[in-house]
Amino acid sequence: MSMNADTMEAQLSKESSGGIQKSTDEIDYAERNEIDFTRPVTIAPDIFWVGIYLENDPFQCHPYLIRNGNESILIDPGSMIQIDAIINKINEGCRLSDIKYIILHHQDPDLCAAVPTLEKMINRPDLQIVTHSRMSVLIKHYGIQSGYYNIDQQNFKLQAGDLELEFFTTPYCHSPGAFVTYDRKTGVLFSGDIFFRRTGGFLEVLRR
Ligand SMILES: [Fe+2]
Repeated sequence: MSMNADTMEAQLSKESSGGIQKSTDEIDYAERNEIDFTRPVTIAPDIFWVGIYLENDPFQCHPYLIRNGNESILIDPGSMIQIDAIINKINEGCRLSDIKYIILHHQDPDLCAAVPTLEKMINRPDLQIVTHSRMSVLIKHYGIQSGYYNIDQQNFKLQAGDLELEFFTTPYCHSPGAFVTYDRKTGVLFSGDIFFRRTGGFLEVLRR
């Protein structure tokens, strides 16, 4: 993401305090840059961070939306804890029914648990779960009904209209079939959990 840790921490601090607290230079910095984490954050043209900050939770999922007409893509949508807020943010970028692909970088519940609910709301028979075959055998246990697009059986690429995404495996970072997604056109890398560090949580990771 095109922001630094201090900027994000400042804005999150502001969010968690209901917009009242304003006591640090970092908050002023965030305001000058007009980053509003209560709304989708633009990463690149048609690419948005649609996550939220979960207070006192070491598992901070970072969902992204790639707006791509009726072949839009949702990445690591998250769990039932934050699903309502994430749906609201998606709706600012596109219709849920525009989503054709859900990329799941690995099988963890903080990334995947909302998918069975989301796929009912998306309600597309051609909705596909994009993941690695080593992950799809686990992910199916969430009760997901959609078909699977296993990247290792698809030359590690996905073509969706004019959009082409490339996938790179990151074995055991931190799951056997984990991978990351790269959009060469914009230079955006969706890094999954490869920078995750449980102790200290989300903000601690961003500081490093
Ligand atoms: Fe994970």
